[in-house]
Amino acid sequence: MDVILFGPPGAGKGTQAGRISDALSIPHVSTGDIFRYHLKQGTDLGTLARGYMDRGELVPDEVVFKLVADRLTQDDALGGILFDGFPRTVRQAELLADWLSTNGRGTGVVVNLDVPESILVPRLTGRRTCENKSCGAGYHLVFSPPVAHGVCDRCGGKLLQRKDDNEETALNRLDVYRSQTAPVLAWLRQHDAPVLDIDGTKAIDAVGNDIEEGLKAFSA
Ligand code: AP5
Ligand code: MG
Ligand code: ZN
Repeated sequence: MDVILFGPPGAGKGTQAGRISDALSIPHVSTGDIFRYHLKQGTDLGTLARGYMDRGELVPDEVVFKLVADRLTQDDALGGILFDGFPRTVRQAELLADWLSTNGRGTGVVVNLDVPESILVPRLTGRRTCENKSCGAGYHLVFSPPVAHGVCDRCGGKLLQRKDDNEETALNRLDVYRSQTAPVLAWLRQHDAPVLDIDGTKAIDAVGNDIEEGLKAFSA
């Protein structure tokens, strides 16, 4: 089963992804995480993506889809993928739908994390992430703080702030979401993708429980 984890910046996609990926045994594919990896490694793709990401704009559709298409053909993706942060434009949704139907896969289930904008900016500016890629644990200074300030509970790694999580860029990302990404949800509904609407304002565990319960109906 393919699952599209949908929602604005800060909705909790990355926070919930591990649990869904474990429950359904499908790999978590975050296009943002892939770009950040390339940025850190200094690859050509990272160099290309950097400006867009720093400004809070979207990387061009063809670049994103090439990367996703490569990922879709890897062995561990044959039974399904958990998409996080993709598709983000109607064009990306069309490209994905074409690929899935050509390859005999259904539309995928959409998990829509609904969170009002007023909550999103403080979530983004307070986010911290473990520096170790093998760990990658996520925290929030207020809502989900580590035991020791600036140190990962799981591995002792340093906690870092994403460069695009400053207030100015976060506000721009929300503008981009409103104009370019929110219409994707309507497009998916129009194209008969099943959508599970989730109240993303609840506590992290409660949101996870709601998603798990809701997805049971689709995987049964
Ligand atoms: P990406 O990395 O995808 O960022 P995003 O969509 O802006 O989403 P975030 O990662 O900010 O939010 P999230 O929903 O994962 O929140 P999280 O769970 O961490 O993309 C970054 C950039 O890459 C884009 O701007 C673009 O340039 C490029 N890009 C990526 N994909 C692309 C694509 N398909 N096309 C074009 N360009 C692309 O939670 C946030 C914080 O809130 C955390 O601190 C967490 O602890 C806290 N929190 C989470 N849930 C709760 C809760 N229930 N209660 C309280 N706090 C909570
Ligand atoms: Mg994320
Ligand atoms: Zn860690």
